[in-house]
Amino acid sequence: MCGIFGYVGKKEAKPLLIEGLENLEYRGYDSAGIAISTNKGIKIVKRAGKVEELKKALKEENIDGSVGIAHTRWATHGLPSELNAHPHTDVLKSVTLVHNGIIENYLELKNEFNLKTQTESDTEIIAGLIAIMPEKNNLEKLKSVVKLLKGSYALAIIFSNEPECIYLAKKESPLMVGKSEDDIFISSDANAFKKYCSDFYILKNNEFAKIKYNNIEFFNKNKKINKKTNKFLNTFAFENKNKYLMQDEIAQTPDALKETAIFFENFKDIKNYFKNIDKIYLVACGTAYHSCLFGKKYLEFLNVPIFTEIASEFKYSKHLFTKNTLCIFVSQSGETADTIACVKKCKCKTLAITNVPNSSITFACKKTILMKAGWERAVASTKAYSCQLLIFYLLKCLLKDEKPKIKTLIRQSKQYLNSLNLTQLAKKVATFEKVMFIGRQDDYITAKEGALKLKEISYINCTACPSGELKHGTLALVDENTLIILISTKNNLISKNLLTKEEIEARGGKCLILGNFENADIKLPKLSADLMPILSILPLQVLACEVCILKGYNPDKPRNLSKSVTVE
Ligand code: G6P
Repeated sequence: MCGIFGYVGKKEAKPLLIEGLENLEYRGYDSAGIAISTNKGIKIVKRAGKVEELKKALKEENIDGSVGIAHTRWATHGLPSELNAHPHTDVLKSVTLVHNGIIENYLELKNEFNLKTQTESDTEIIAGLIAIMPEKNNLEKLKSVVKLLKGSYALAIIFSNEPECIYLAKKESPLMVGKSEDDIFISSDANAFKKYCSDFYILKNNEFAKIKYNNIEFFNKNKKINKKTNKFLNTFAFENKNKYLMQDEIAQTPDALKETAIFFENFKDIKNYFKNIDKIYLVACGTAYHSCLFGKKYLEFLNVPIFTEIASEFKYSKHLFTKNTLCIFVSQSGETADTIACVKKCKCKTLAITNVPNSSITFACKKTILMKAGWERAVASTKAYSCQLLIFYLLKCLLKDEKPKIKTLIRQSKQYLNSLNLTQLAKKVATFEKVMFIGRQDDYITAKEGALKLKEISYINCTACPSGELKHGTLALVDENTLIILISTKNNLISKNLLTKEEIEARGGKCLILGNFENADIKLPKLSADLMPILSILPLQVLACEVCILKGYNPDKPRNLSKSVTVE
């Protein structure tokens, strides 16, 4: 949610900042802007809309310089307009900054300090406050201002009286600094500068940095500090060959599963952490929450109570934690604010399952299991979801001392994806305004994830309902304009599912079956029940992506959404 990028070096900042923003666009794409220190002062260019719009605008602008900051926005305060786009400045333009996060008390501060503002953003007051601080030194001014702020922030700031430097401050929102021989990069996500640096620093809460050519100084509230660098993990070179990231990411699933399974060997000690646990909470948001629903099924054999909760609800509910309670938090990005806020309230064992090493959740939780799905940037999560299910399956095998059987899964998923052709079906689905996904047991969870996938990128009104529950209310919605996708992968439930199909068709509804038996409309291969959910979601992901493209939308950047939701 909002991406920050920055550069200090000898090269032209402009193309590097644009490249950085393109890499970070998954965090928001409502507007984009850059500020570069030029020999005629700090120049700012911003545009509403995607980075592409900024790129077009910059073709006509001469802004040469080797120190710059940039921002891609997911609007929280104020319309996604050019005016509200970052960078923001104080009235006299002595402070120029980009911000990721939310300042909860910005209106109080604006009134208290009688600040004049021009935009609707909460960020502008930070620039205004810094500009009026009495301290002589820029770092001290910044330190004084963050003491006043309530909320979250990753800030990158250029002062007009020190245009060769970038100052940073961080609380809750992520901020990394990468260093190569001659260049220093700043980013909300280290992946965005990975191409240029092998080492990087991670700012912790309440830390600051002052960066100038070939020099990085870190500070905490009181003094200068030394920080250790981090190295990027060796990553598998995932293939990209399609027009959209989402298409690539679905196609990368078999490799992602394989990498995740190999890497899981490093986390086998986690078995001890499960000793004597009295109950388990599985907590997450969105797609990751659906993987928790499967997590519960995989871990049910432990015979302890297991609860699944949506993070934004968990935060406000009462729970009975003991020292033997285990809370498992699942998050692809490791930065979802709702999920991280929950970790803080858990005075018990905490385990993160995430795709991003060194993400905030890995610092917040006592233990971590990393997936190796590779960088996922399309907003709708696909390969990471499959890997989350795999982690739960591998955990089950580990805790039960069973040998995991994943070779078949990887081979089958590859063959299956290669053979899938859903274009005709997608054309049909695209004509409906309402689509319902139904299933029983595991298939109901897949139905929930299938509905989320289709609605978030095609804007079709999709719901999910347990098949058996349909007749207790939801059937009233079924008419000739309703498409029902029925998922049926359990042999013992086929006849019941066929009955449900008849009930739907008797009411004029259209029903398509996704199943692993002869007459299914979308056929799934045979696979053990344990692994089936990892396979059965694939056609629903492909279908959602195809429908979205057929409708003329970009599956990577659905309206109103962001991949990394760093505000609660
Ligand atoms: C956002 C994304 C979803 C994602 C959810 C949780 O809503 O758009 O695709 O499932 O956040 O993200 P996380 O990174 O915590 O898994």
